[in-house]
Amino acid sequence: MSKLVAICAGDGIGPEIMVQARRVLDALELEGIRYEEGLVGGAAYKAVGHPLPPETLELAKRADAILFGAVGDFDCDHLERHLRPEQAILGLRKELTLFSNLRPAKVFPQLVDASALKPEVAGAIDLLIVRETNGDVYFGEKGMRKTADGKREGYDIMSYDEDEVRRIAHSGFQAAQARRKKLCSVDKANVLETSQLWRDVMIEVSADYPDVELSHMYVDNAAMQLVRNPGQFDVVVTGNMFGDILSDQASMCVGSIGMLASATLNASKQGLYEPIHGSAPDIAGQGKANPLAMMLSAAMMLRFSFDMPEPADRIEAAVAKALENGARGPDLGGSMSTSEMGDAVLAVL
Ligand code: IPM
Ligand code: MG
Repeated sequence: MSKLVAICAGDGIGPEIMVQARRVLDALELEGIRYEEGLVGGAAYKAVGHPLPPETLELAKRADAILFGAVGDFDCDHLERHLRPEQAILGLRKELTLFSNLRPAKVFPQLVDASALKPEVAGAIDLLIVRETNGDVYFGEKGMRKTADGKREGYDIMSYDEDEVRRIAHSGFQAAQARRKKLCSVDKANVLETSQLWRDVMIEVSADYPDVELSHMYVDNAAMQLVRNPGQFDVVVTGNMFGDILSDQASMCVGSIGMLASATLNASKQGLYEPIHGSAPDIAGQGKANPLAMMLSAAMMLRFSFDMPEPADRIEAAVAKALENGARGPDLGGSMSTSEMGDAVLAVL
């Protein structure tokens, strides 16, 4: 077996956490996995004038999996939208049809006290957000225009067609089948037509999965329930925009946004693996970033794209053990640096 991993470290804290994830992967001495680096984000713009250069896109298409750090750079905020760092991740999701973004949120018992929630509430969290990442208001027509009376107006069109909803519905139901068989579809069907279609299609697809219990929740209520009683959720399936917001919220419920990994898969199970946090430019280069979500993303890659559950388990167990041994960076109320967190994981690996 020879597998190619595209390494796209990106901006801000991306490169420093990627170094630690690579140390962990290298320590596992996995046979047949090759790594090639590609420029993305503001780093790519500064080097070659585009956030997703053609060489990187070509590498990503050729690769079996993409390990992605983070993109986002204040220096680039004034650029035209198609040149901004964020277009790297959005472009990869679109070009490779990576539509099914899996964002698990489970509390590590060692971190219950780091959660923003009461320990008994946080301790019950074991959920998976299945976020659609190819459509919605993210990819609809957008622009700036002038109204008839000369005011500036920005617009972004939200839409989903039924095929887009159907394929993510299948992802959601299948994920639920592999877990506790409960699927909560989150929408805003009381206001949005996009959501009404979403809900209708979820109900249609549910006929194929009689063993899964489907429920529906409006997104505002879901945001509230996520802090009131997160233990009620098993799998949550939702659109691009709502999933973006709810997954950040879920991360704080489990202790730190520096802990959550994600996988974004297409129909051929090619995957992009990234921490759900961003590039955190405010702490970049200071050794303050938590590398654990990046390592856990690498574990997801081994599990989902390479069918290597054993080394994936080893990474996850080593992260848990390091936490048990007291490894804590600033985001978890400790003072260990990014590389010391890496050392702590490697020591028990
Ligand atoms: C995420 C990020 C991205 C998104 C940004 C960087 C475009 O917030 O992966 O959650 O909004 O999808
Ligand atoms: Mg986000």
